[in-house]
Amino acid sequence: MQVRRCATVMVEPREALDFDLAELAAGETGVRERLGWVALAAHRDEEIELDAVEVAVLGALSPGQWQSLDELSQQHPRAGLDGLLAKGLLIAREPQDDSARRFARDDQAVRAVHWRGLSAVAQRHSRWRDVDTEEAERLFSEASAQTFLERLGPAPPVVGERTEPASRLPLAKPSPSPLDALTDRRVTCRNYDPAPLSHVAFSSVLYRAFGARAVSDYAPGVQLLKKAVPSAGGLHATEAYLLVQRVEGVPPGLYHYHPVAHALEPLCELDAGVAATLARRFVAAQAYYVGAPLQIALVSRFERNFWKYRNHAKAWRAVILDAGHLSQAMYLAATELNLGAFITAAINEVEIEQAFGLEPMSEGPLAVCGFGVRAQEKTTVEFDPAHKVWSDL
Ligand SMILES: Cc1cc2nc3c(=O)[nH]c(=O)nc-3n(C[C@H](O)[C@H](O)[C@H](O)COP(=O)(O)O)c2cc1C
Repeated sequence: MQVRRCATVMVEPREALDFDLAELAAGETGVRERLGWVALAAHRDEEIELDAVEVAVLGALSPGQWQSLDELSQQHPRAGLDGLLAKGLLIAREPQDDSARRFARDDQAVRAVHWRGLSAVAQRHSRWRDVDTEEAERLFSEASAQTFLERLGPAPPVVGERTEPASRLPLAKPSPSPLDALTDRRVTCRNYDPAPLSHVAFSSVLYRAFGARAVSDYAPGVQLLKKAVPSAGGLHATEAYLLVQRVEGVPPGLYHYHPVAHALEPLCELDAGVAATLARRFVAAQAYYVGAPLQIALVSRFERNFWKYRNHAKAWRAVILDAGHLSQAMYLAATELNLGAFITAAINEVEIEQAFGLEPMSEGPLAVCGFGVRAQEKTTVEFDPAHKVWSDL
């Protein structure tokens, strides 16, 4: 059998805490520290415990060159090699069973996209699956009498001041402009009207935030886009995947927004109840964002950005910046139409990938945003200290 090491894996020395109930009952702390090695691989969702032999063997294997397992056994302990093979960190050239085939396929997906190793591991292992933030909050309040703020203590100051106030150089404020008026009314909306969103408002905001205003034939086989927002290399690798619940003329379902055609690509029609359940899973059970008429997963096609910025230390940061730019453009386009908008990073990436059929290391959700008509009444808190949207306190 021919094998090679997976493309990207980091090994973390980790201290885990276990509780010994017998010790606890005997009046001691009951806390036992356990030190060990954990492998974080770019092609595996799981964190993988390694023993010291496996760590040593892992460090001696080539990720590029296929080698005979029998020959490797002459130089390295067989148990270590077998352990790494079973854990998917050693990849078989001709996999014999389903899990080995999955390891080989997922490792190949990482290799194909020119990831920088550290970024690949951070992307893979910062994804959530099946997280319920409401449930987490409930468990937190049950487990501790302290409020969140009591536990955290005071926050660092609002500004990282570097000089005494007397030595500041005051700057003139601009006279109010339409941009100021628009910016002032941009308030994250957590209270949505249950009525459907008009088709015109829907398509206008999509165009202004995510649509391409020009396509440039930059070189043979290389097209760049001009959008409302900047993007590294003009590549605009981050695209909008929609979960529609209530939009006039658009049946509930999953869609991909085509930024050049300014059109929806229907992927899957959904029953309204299923759409609501999926919306709840996407935003980790943040009920106020489930109430929005649509959710937009900002999905980065890493393969497009990394085509140019291969194995690049800055590339992952650059695609994450795309999500921030796009969401702000969406906020402003929505605000101009007197709509509310939101963004959340507390998302279940794995459920979003599964719903849209995305290979996580080629195309990954970075955030979920959305917009809609504001509700008449505020039932969930919003941050409007200048009272530009809500007149109450
Ligand atoms: C990266 C990012 C992540 C956010 N995640 C959440 C979130 O998980 N839940 C939420 O309710 N709001 C989330 N927000 C919205 C912020 O809470 C909001 O911007 C902040 O309270 C300030 O309010 P404003 O947008 O009205 O100025 C997020 C905003 C950003 C930029």
